[in-house]
Amino acid sequence: MEIKGEILRILRSGKVVSGEEISKKLEVSRVAIWKHIQTLKEHGYVIQSSPKGYHLVKTPDLLFPWEFSKIKSEVIGKKIYHFMDVPSTMDVARDFAERGEKEGTLVIAEAQTKGRGRLGRDWISIEGGLYISLILKPKIKPSYAHRATIMSSVAIAKTIDRLYNLDARVKWPNDVLIGENKIGGILAEMKTEMDIIHYVIAGIGININNDPPEKENTTSIKKEVGKEVSRVEFTKSLVDELDKRYSLIKNKFHHILREWRSLSSTLGRLVKVVTTEDELEGYALDIDDNGSLLLKLRDDTIKRIFAGDCTHLRKKHIRIG
Ligand code: BTN
Repeated sequence: MEIKGEILRILRSGKVVSGEEISKKLEVSRVAIWKHIQTLKEHGYVIQSSPKGYHLVKTPDLLFPWEFSKIKSEVIGKKIYHFMDVPSTMDVARDFAERGEKEGTLVIAEAQTKGRGRLGRDWISIEGGLYISLILKPKIKPSYAHRATIMSSVAIAKTIDRLYNLDARVKWPNDVLIGENKIGGILAEMKTEMDIIHYVIAGIGININNDPPEKENTTSIKKEVGKEVSRVEFTKSLVDELDKRYSLIKNKFHHILREWRSLSSTLGRLVKVVTTEDELEGYALDIDDNGSLLLKLRDDTIKRIFAGDCTHLRKKHIRIG
């Protein structure tokens, strides 16, 4: 039992509750309760103490593990590590994975000093954004590892739609957009052998209450909704959406592919894809079950692209086929 989570649950009744009452309910000494309350205060919870007891006045919107103690998931988020700031959650998660940490474990940071994006880019990670690395150990072939990012992008888009009724879309290979503007992205790093995946770290970065870097084509939930939102609520929903889909990765991936296709902003469009060998332009026809993009080139040949950087060239969706 996470005592701090339990104390907060009791205090969230809105009433003034005595230390004695909390201690009886949780079968923990009053001194221990007092200590937990002090720690909560140090972490930014405003808790007034009076002779009658404790009164919770304000909760910071920080992603402490005890805020998620009531999550009922099968795999994702069963264990959460939280840091105020780290260079990159990817490295922390990799170290945990190397030491045998269970799959589903989340590494969350309030800020990162060396956040990284795809293709060696930086991921500016100031407070207010969401920075998570998720340790996964799917029992699938290494060539299917992309499924983890496809699943994550669908889960992010569904969370945004579910909480704020915004039309979030997925862009191949692993961005999430609102309109044409990027709101989040996923970086996958993995350790594999010939035919097994030791682990995949899915790094998720989402602009929530942070102002994204002054680049073209970026947005945040705050910008779209017009006010700050609860990052705790967002993370709970995201964990739920990830957890619902994770079990489908191995044998029922077609369900996730169906969702991805219906959320896709890329399919049916003229796109440019830069890979390590090529720069290609064509119509995005579909993705296959390892997440590769099927691109119809000008000479009507179809190219299967496993990884690359994709730019949408036209605003409007175009009929293909
Ligand atoms: C992209 O380029 O779109 C992917 C961005 C991924 C950023 C996340 S934030 C959490 C995790 N830690 C990192 O350093 N990167 C990923």
